[in-house]
Amino acid sequence: MARDIVHTCSECGFQSPQWHGRCPGCEAWGTLVEERVLARTGARSSASAARGSGRGSRAGRHTGAGGEVAPCPRPLREVTATTAARLSTGIGELDRVLGGGLVPGSLVLLGGSPGIGKSTLTNMALGNLAGAGHATLYVSGEESAEQVRLRAERLAPGALEVPILAETDLDAVLDTLATHSPRVCVIDSVQTLRAGELTGAPGAVGQVREVTGRIMELAKERGIAVVLVGHVTKDGALAGPRVLEHLVDCVLQFEGERERPYRELRALKNRFGSTNEAGLFEMRQGGLVEVLDASARFVAGATRAPGSVVLAAMEGSRPLLVEVQALVAPSELEQPRRVVSGLDRNRMALVLAILGRHGGVAMGGADVFVNVVGGVRVDEPGCDLAVALAVASAARGVPLRGTPRACFGELGLTGELRWVGHPERRLTEAAKHGLYATIAPADSGPGACEVTTLREALAAALSSEANRPTRVAA
Ligand code: TYD
Ligand code: MG
Repeated sequence: MARDIVHTCSECGFQSPQWHGRCPGCEAWGTLVEERVLARTGARSSASAARGSGRGSRAGRHTGAGGEVAPCPRPLREVTATTAARLSTGIGELDRVLGGGLVPGSLVLLGGSPGIGKSTLTNMALGNLAGAGHATLYVSGEESAEQVRLRAERLAPGALEVPILAETDLDAVLDTLATHSPRVCVIDSVQTLRAGELTGAPGAVGQVREVTGRIMELAKERGIAVVLVGHVTKDGALAGPRVLEHLVDCVLQFEGERERPYRELRALKNRFGSTNEAGLFEMRQGGLVEVLDASARFVAGATRAPGSVVLAAMEGSRPLLVEVQALVAPSELEQPRRVVSGLDRNRMALVLAILGRHGGVAMGGADVFVNVVGGVRVDEPGCDLAVALAVASAARGVPLRGTPRACFGELGLTGELRWVGHPERRLTEAAKHGLYATIAPADSGPGACEVTTLREALAAALSSEANRPTRVAA
C-alpha cells in the first residue's frame, strides 16, 4: 500500500518517508515537516504535469496502468517555436528586467521582504495592462479587497480597473482563472494559497509546490502570464523550497531598505532574458517611480570629503555611478568592527587584506565602515577599487585628488588591478556627469587614468604626502 505520509524539508524540498532531525538533502537541522497526502486525483502528479505541459507535444504519451508508451523525441529543427509577443507592463524598468515584458504562459516569481512594495508594483503593472485593454486578475490572499482598493486609490487611475479576487483556496482560484482566462494574473502571495487535498498550513513546502505546479499547468495551457508574489526569509532567500525557483521561468527579487526610498529590482533567473538587468525605483506617495537619472543624483550628492569615492558600476547592461563612503576609526573592541552595507562582506574583508599587504594601508585594530550611499546594492567585481580608495582616503584623512573622482576595477590577490567588463560604458557615464580621469585598469580605453596595480591607483588618487605607509592606531 502506498504511504500517505511524507516528510519534506522546508529548505531544500527533500522528501523522505521517515523523519530525520537533520535533513539528508541539505543538512539543515529541524527542517523536516510531516505532510499527509489525503488524495491524489488524476494520474499525474503536479511535478510531472509541470514538466509535460506546454513544453511541446504530449501526444502519444500513454499513462495506462499496464505500461508506458515512451514519447518519441524529435530533432530540434522540427520543433516549431513561435515567438509570442510580450506584454508590456507599462513600467519601463520592470519590462527591462523581465527581458522586454511578460511572456504569455510564463510564471514569474517576485520575491521581497514585507513592505518593500511588491503589491504596489504588481498593482501598478496590472493597472497599466488593464488600461491597455488586456484582461487582468489580481488574486489577493493576504489583504481584503477593501485594503487593495485603498492602495489602488493612491496609484494611477488604471489600478482601480483591475478585477480582484480575495481568495485563498487554490481550487476557487483555478476555477476563476479557467472561467475568465485573463491574459495576466497576479497571485499575492503564493504562500497564502491552499490546496485542499494536501494537509499542512498554507506556505508549507508541499502546499507551495502543489499550488505553483497546478497554477503553472493552467497558465501554460491557457497562455496566461502569471506573477507569483513570494515572501523572503530573514536571510533574504525566497521562503519555501528551492524547487519553486526551479519550477518558474523567471525569479525577480525586489530589494532595498524599508526606511529608504530606493528599491532595486533584479532578475535572479530568467528563461527569457538576461539575469544581469536591474531596475531602480523610488517609493513615493503615488506609488513606485522609476529612477532614470540615478547617476546624476548620486554624483550631485557625493560629499567630496575624505573617504568618499564615486564608483562607476554596471547594473546589468546599464552603467550607474554611486558614491562609496568609508569611515576608519580607532576601535575599543578586542575584535574591531567591519561593517558594510550595499556590498559583499567577504569582498570587503578581501579588499582590506589586499590594501594592508599591497597598498601599505593597514587597518590594524581600527573599526572600518563602508557604505554605498542611498541604500543601493552593488554586486560586481568592479567595486573593489572603490572600496580600497575610499578606505585609504578615510584612513589617511585626505580627500581624493580632483574629487569627486570616479573609479572601477577588480583587485587581484597580488595587488594587481584587473580589467572588468564594459569599461567604455562606465567611462562615458562618468564623463557625462562631469567626472574625468577616472581611475581604471589597463586597456579600459581613452579618457581613463589607467593604472595596473593598487599602489599606482593610490598614488594617482591621493596626494603625494598622503602616500606614505599608514597604520591606523587601535
Ligand atoms: P506594499 O506594496 O504593500 O509592500 P509589500 O507588498 O511588498 O509588502 O507597500 C509597501 C509600502 O509602501 C507601504 O508601507 C506603504 C508604502 N507606499 C507608499 O509609500 N506610497 C504608495 O503610493 C503606496 C501604494 C505604498
Ligand atoms: Mg503585499
